[in-house]
Amino acid sequence: MLVRLFSAALQGADAIEVDVEVNHVNRDKSSMQIVGLPDAAVRESAQRVTSAVVNTGLLVAMGQHTINLAPADLRKEGPSFDLPVALAIASCGMEVVIPFPERYCIVGELALDGRVRPVKGVISVALEAMAQGRTRLIVPSANCEEASLVEGIEIYGVDTLEQAWKLLIGELVAAPHTRREHGTVDDLMKADLSEVRGQHQVKRALEVAAAGGHNLLMVGPPGTGKSMIAKRIPSILPEMSLAEAIETTKIHSCAGGFDHSSSLQRERPFRAPHHTISDAGLLGGGSNPLPGEVSLAHHGVLFLDELPEFRRQTLEVLRQPLEDRSVSISRAAGSIRYPCNCMLVAALNPCPCGYYGDLKRMCRCSPNQIEKYRQRISGPLLDRIDIHIEVPAIEFSELRDGERGESSASVRQRVAAARQVQQQRYSGCGEVRSNSMIPNKLMDQHCALSPESVEYLEMVMHELNFSARAYNRILKVSRTIADLAASPNIELNHLMEAVQYRTLDRKMMG
Ligand SMILES: Nc1ncnc2c1ncn2[C@@H]1O[C@H](COP(=O)(O)OP(=O)(O)OP(=O)(O)O)[C@@H](O)[C@H]1O
Ligand SMILES: [Mg+2]
Ligand SMILES: [Zn+2]
Repeated sequence: MLVRLFSAALQGADAIEVDVEVNHVNRDKSSMQIVGLPDAAVRESAQRVTSAVVNTGLLVAMGQHTINLAPADLRKEGPSFDLPVALAIASCGMEVVIPFPERYCIVGELALDGRVRPVKGVISVALEAMAQGRTRLIVPSANCEEASLVEGIEIYGVDTLEQAWKLLIGELVAAPHTRREHGTVDDLMKADLSEVRGQHQVKRALEVAAAGGHNLLMVGPPGTGKSMIAKRIPSILPEMSLAEAIETTKIHSCAGGFDHSSSLQRERPFRAPHHTISDAGLLGGGSNPLPGEVSLAHHGVLFLDELPEFRRQTLEVLRQPLEDRSVSISRAAGSIRYPCNCMLVAALNPCPCGYYGDLKRMCRCSPNQIEKYRQRISGPLLDRIDIHIEVPAIEFSELRDGERGESSASVRQRVAAARQVQQQRYSGCGEVRSNSMIPNKLMDQHCALSPESVEYLEMVMHELNFSARAYNRILKVSRTIADLAASPNIELNHLMEAVQYRTLDRKMMG
């Protein structure tokens, strides 16, 4: 006797359909075997499932059950197959086997008493179920909101195995879950740029960085608002499209620790890992590879505060993912890719004591100490940061009496307009979405300069001893500044502003 149901397994942030087949043979001795590359959690499910079925008042037939999860070469992880397996076993326990409708996909973890517990990655499961032509998805109630983000598939939330059973055999008729309406992103934003007093130049650099998707480095003495400002960057980035929000939600959902009730991750993520973070924590990894901070920051901001405190090695490994905008994690059963298209924002003090170059306070560091401190920052990582800006101390009066600055919403409008220009410009250029992503071979086409500007840039390059890499970065940033000004050409003043965002080349690296 064979019963078949559909479920799905997570592979990175995506799900793949899995056939759950339970074959039952009458024998004197009872046994239960799970085949098809199950991990420990899946193997252990046999006991949970049996107990849940019995406690629900359904029967587990005597004899031998073989549970096959296909495709066999796909590693199955976690407890999300409990529910479909239990349903199939319960069906084998009926005198007359009830054929289950094929339109269902089912996931859920079971407690021993038959209650259904939430699982990870439901949004990805819903996307896969729909792609496979299933029209109904049974998920734990707590995962309903998240699953219902996917349109075109009916979502049914269940709290117990019994409910799922009755739903499947048609004894329980329920309406599919309806998605809650969500507030606007502005309701969600907690921190607003208007709270930052003064620092007009820094805010301008922030706007340029957000507009072009440029990575940003802030240098300044303690307490000048670097961390405060960084936290507010997501609030000036344009609202995520639904597709982007779903991509981001997928990653957060499969990482666990996700607030299932809020469902869609609509606010751009802001991730600020501590400098003691491991490489696996930052990039992703583990035996059941989870996404790292860099992927959790997908479509948002990865903030590395106190940059020199991070291990150099850790910063080095971040380079490639930032460039590729995805991380590949290899493991025994093939590799997994997680996207990580995020803005890198880093902050640091100019020296160990923090006051090097400060006009009011003396730096207490020796040249040797300063040298060592700076060497801790990875040069190749710095090379991937387009904009460097100083965040100076501000006057106390400005802090106290200063007017509230412009709101995030108002800055965001300009950023969004500049992004729109870029989207149009790069519509035929594959992966390129923003000026920060212009490949070298398209630089001439999109970042052309007037003869006057070329002359100026040549002089600056020579005088300030900029590298060839710095040259390209200056061009990309000036393209963004021109876009913010709605100017089709890069004018000399755009270029001059971009050159200013190279303070670190002069001050620290020179
Ligand atoms: N420009 C500002 N406007 C309003 N408040 C500010 C400003 N700058 C600093 N503050 C206040 O000072 C606090 C400290 O700022 P913050 O932690 O962002 O400084 P920091 O530059 O990150 O310092 P550190 O280098 O020590 O990490 C903020 O929480 C905020 O209350
Ligand atoms: Mg700080
Ligand atoms: Zn110092």
